[in-house]
Amino acid sequence: MGVIQLIVDGDLTTVVVEAGALSALGEALVEHCGPSRGRAAVVITDETVGGLYGAGIGASLVGAGWTPLSFSIRPGEQSKRLTTAGVIYRFLSDNRAGRDSVIVALGGGVVSDLAGFVAATWMRGVDFAICPTSLESCVDASIGGKTAVNIPGGKNLVGAFHQPKLVAIDPQVLVTLPFRDICAGLAESIKHGILFSEDFLSWHEENASAVLSLAGSFVGELIERNVVFKGDIVSGDAKEQSGKRILLNFGHTIGHAIESCCGFSLRHGECVSLGMVAASRLSHSSGLLGESEVLRVESVLSQYDLPVRLPEAMSWDRIRDAMLRDKKATAGSPRFVLLDGIGCPVVRDGVDENDVRAAYESLI
Ligand SMILES: NC(=O)c1ccc[n+]([C@@H]2O[C@H](COP(=O)([O-])OP(=O)(O)OC[C@H]3O[C@@H](n4cnc5c(N)ncnc54)[C@H](O)[C@@H]3O)[C@@H](O)[C@H]2O)c1
Ligand SMILES: [Zn+2]
Repeated sequence: MGVIQLIVDGDLTTVVVEAGALSALGEALVEHCGPSRGRAAVVITDETVGGLYGAGIGASLVGAGWTPLSFSIRPGEQSKRLTTAGVIYRFLSDNRAGRDSVIVALGGGVVSDLAGFVAATWMRGVDFAICPTSLESCVDASIGGKTAVNIPGGKNLVGAFHQPKLVAIDPQVLVTLPFRDICAGLAESIKHGILFSEDFLSWHEENASAVLSLAGSFVGELIERNVVFKGDIVSGDAKEQSGKRILLNFGHTIGHAIESCCGFSLRHGECVSLGMVAASRLSHSSGLLGESEVLRVESVLSQYDLPVRLPEAMSWDRIRDAMLRDKKATAGSPRFVLLDGIGCPVVRDGVDENDVRAAYESLI
């Protein structure tokens, strides 16, 4: 496995994909964040992941001369909010975590989005590293420097860009990940195939059982190809300005609305799966995508046990309302990433609302 270096917005991020990367974390932090000299390394994790891997990381930090501190949140999307960030600021202040502290996210995308937000804002920004432990985070959330918390008005509405100096991926931690979260994480990987590479989409179709059983060489290849796809996009458009990075939102306009309306009973990746089916349908009704390609999208998602129909009813009015509050809405109309074929994403504003409604209702 390997080391991938990304330069995003002028900042260097080193991504290490290696069995044992967690136990080597202390030394790796010295290499990428500077000498430890007793500086605080604040591990932000959730109760589940902290219970499994917190002690190992703590030992590695002590061994390399860091002063480890640890804060655990309750697992799940509900913790990704300002009140949790507020409690963490209090913890940092009580423990006198200074300007030279390093914040380490140990967990899935919820932990890295929240810890990254804290790292971006604590003392106007301190060093940040991520040890992703969910597949979602290994293939997507740990790359690109987007950090965020949710507010009642919508998902990820408050946040900042803050690039990690180090992303240390140890694929061995995935063995404890529940099957549902393995599948959910693969939605974003399938998204990268649909958007950028027909070859990568076929790879998912041909290797589903090996990937789902986390067979060693497949997992390494899966993670590294995704880091390269996402890294390439975010390096060229760090702050979502030139139009490249927005393509990564394929499936997220309707997906985020479903996620907000289901009270977070569905995983992010499950909502993205539903959103990709609806966006593919919308691409078809917009005259862009063939029926057989819509069915191909549904079929590969089903291979990975991802939902392609809504498991619970959510009225169109609530979904519409949530979509209009989405960050990507321009002048009160949601923005869509559609497909002009597999591997050919296009951005569309001003899509007819009746078509969007029909695409959403095709999920029922
Ligand atoms: N910043 C970005 O670019 C970006 C990109 C994609 C997703 N996200 C965000 O990521 C979040 C979803 O991420 P997620 O699916 O990783 O959620 P998560 O962090 O809630 O993790 C899912 C569940 O898996 C558990 N878990 C994680 N690793 C484990 C392990 N190794 N063993 C056992 N259990 C483990 C967690 O405790 C949690 O219960 C969403 O909030 C989404 O908005 C951000
Ligand atoms: Zn996503």
